[in-house]
Amino acid sequence: MTRRTESQDIHFEAGGSLAPPLGRSHGITKGDVKAELRRSARVLTELHSEAAPAGFVRALKRPSILANTRKAAARWRRRKPTDLIHIGIGGSSLGAEALLRALAHPQYNLQSPAKRGGPRIHFVDNVDPETLGALLEVVDLRKSLVHVVSKSGGTVETAAGFQVVRDALERAGRGTRWADHCVFTTGRSALREMARREGAEILDFPEDVGGRFSVLTPSGLFTPAVAGVDIAGVVGGARRYLSRVSRGTPAENPSAVAAAIAYVMAESKRKPIHVLMPYADSLEPLARWYVQLIGESLGKRARRGSRNVGVGPTPLPARGTTDQHSQVQLFVEGPADKWLTFVSVEASRRKRPIAGGPPADYLAGVDLGELLRAEQRGTAIALAEAARPTANWRLPTISPDTVGQLFFAFELQTAFQGALYGINAYDQPGVEAGKLAAFALIGREGYADHRKAIEASEPPTWTI
Ligand code: PA5
Repeated sequence: MTRRTESQDIHFEAGGSLAPPLGRSHGITKGDVKAELRRSARVLTELHSEAAPAGFVRALKRPSILANTRKAAARWRRRKPTDLIHIGIGGSSLGAEALLRALAHPQYNLQSPAKRGGPRIHFVDNVDPETLGALLEVVDLRKSLVHVVSKSGGTVETAAGFQVVRDALERAGRGTRWADHCVFTTGRSALREMARREGAEILDFPEDVGGRFSVLTPSGLFTPAVAGVDIAGVVGGARRYLSRVSRGTPAENPSAVAAAIAYVMAESKRKPIHVLMPYADSLEPLARWYVQLIGESLGKRARRGSRNVGVGPTPLPARGTTDQHSQVQLFVEGPADKWLTFVSVEASRRKRPIAGGPPADYLAGVDLGELLRAEQRGTAIALAEAARPTANWRLPTISPDTVGQLFFAFELQTAFQGALYGINAYDQPGVEAGKLAAFALIGREGYADHRKAIEASEPPTWTI
């Protein structure tokens, strides 16, 4: 590895979590971490294996995933659609959105078509009729591309969004064939069969990768690639991170250490709320992606002796500096039940010096990025003085390479945390009950008994 690429490595700084100086009630020792690292030593080796239940490590190594996605995206860019509507939910939407926002121009949709070089991008990840209805009022579907992402192909919100858009395409007239406007990223599913029958383009959602771990597959890569994001750089960064941590010991693996600290904080230090606070607007959606990754992967029922108990940290997103005027008061003086991780960027991509003058003469000549970094350090200092533990993912800059590293580092961290809790991080049985009840309530065939059961056991009402 060259010196140049090493200088692009991201790092996890854990000094803000240590006791001393925080004290044993709030801080951890390197010994605490070592004990947990011993328990998770096998995780990475297992993730490389063909038998691993989760395939996100294997998928990263498959060259065809990146190559096929790039080819498809290049083809669609040549067709110059004006808009791309990405329809998906949870892991089938958040990764693509986080990647796009991290790496596309911060005002991408507002740029001129020539500057943008790709379509405007819109994410539809809800069934709120206001959102999709309003979007269809302003885009010309006849000139648009629709990217439908669903591994199972059966997710009700995605099916509903797609059907509304397909119907609108069918009504668009002038010989519009809806299938010519759609790309489906899906697994072995009824959606895939339908797309095949209609002759629409299909990208493979790898069968061994779950939604929230799918950002480095077509699910997360295709939409940003059509917008011109350098997805080869992203995947390259993730691969570099994987080879870096595969060569070292768990103690040299930032994801393993972050997981061990998170586990000790939650389980031994009574700090179950884990805040992720990037100091970069472009990384705010990444914090929302992280919340889903941690929440859905680790919030599980676990066996402890003869009992089932609920485990898992509660992830909370925040954004610096904005939340310094909102949640930071709570973080500094409220309950000592939080572990806060910053994401800081050493060099912003843009320079914007402040002119100075009233009411803040002291700002003259300071760059906005310098102020951002000073405020992050200031917040870390304030938290340390209040004995509140913190950590920091440090990025040299925001680039495809560093962002790829960071996404993958979080996925690995989650896998390590899952192993420490002794749970399956790759399923989500807890979301099933609500889904089945909703099917019953909208009158889906086969759910009549379920509906009767719901009606017979209506919860108490208390309407004020
Ligand atoms: O992370 C997950 O597994 C979930 O959030 C899924 O991505 C989400 O439920 C959507 O599933 P699907 O891609 O099957 O439509």
